[in-house]
Amino acid sequence: MNNNVHLIEHPLIQHKLTLMRDKTTTTKEFRELAKEVSALMVYEISRDMKLREVEIETPIGKTKGKVLKDEIALVPILRAGIVMAEGILDLIPTAKVGHIGLYRDPKTLMPVEYYCKLPRNIDKYKVFIVDPMLATGGSGAKAIEILKSKKVKDIVFVCLISAPEGIELINKRFPEIPIYTISIDERLNSHGYIVPGLGDAGDRIFGTK
Ligand code: PRP
Ligand code: URA
Repeated sequence: MNNNVHLIEHPLIQHKLTLMRDKTTTTKEFRELAKEVSALMVYEISRDMKLREVEIETPIGKTKGKVLKDEIALVPILRAGIVMAEGILDLIPTAKVGHIGLYRDPKTLMPVEYYCKLPRNIDKYKVFIVDPMLATGGSGAKAIEILKSKKVKDIVFVCLISAPEGIELINKRFPEIPIYTISIDERLNSHGYIVPGLGDAGDRIFGTK
């Protein structure tokens, strides 16, 4: 496996992921867990983020401090990515948010684009694409293609559960893009669902089934 895949195995994250996988977990609990896990993931991912020095004044006197160097934009893939973006915004509230709407055609499993609204000058941002599931990799690859067509250079892909098939596709087409995930599951089933996975992330987040 390419070392541009980063598996985050923090015990709190693994605990919450197990609750998310459990089919008896309610919509409300599932949504809260997805938000919490996403925030915890970004805490880990942001360890290596660059800082720049700024001069500030405390109530006592002048000093130098550090703030994040890069402007951050979150791009959730609709629908399921929305809740991940909400969790990350709790930690990085100044992030801008773009949306890419994609759904998988149930027969071909190919992504169909139905919406795209991105922050102005998106090419100047460090962009986190967020989507709970990386299955065949088709949706992730399509979102990356869209951002690359807007000249975005700094992209990271953040997902909860990934399948080896999806990782392979993204790695092969975009080896420069890091993938952050909290689990690499066994495989896809014949319907393109991740096994064991957690089912349909959108349906579980929004209670649509
Ligand atoms: C799910 C998921 C990803 C996609 C992953 O969305 O949230 O976007 O499938 O599958 P892939 O890697 O094979 O492309 P879905 O298409 O079910 O849409 P939804 O979020 O609107 O339910
Ligand atoms: N999309 C989901 O929501 N779940 C899967 O297992 C695969 C794609």
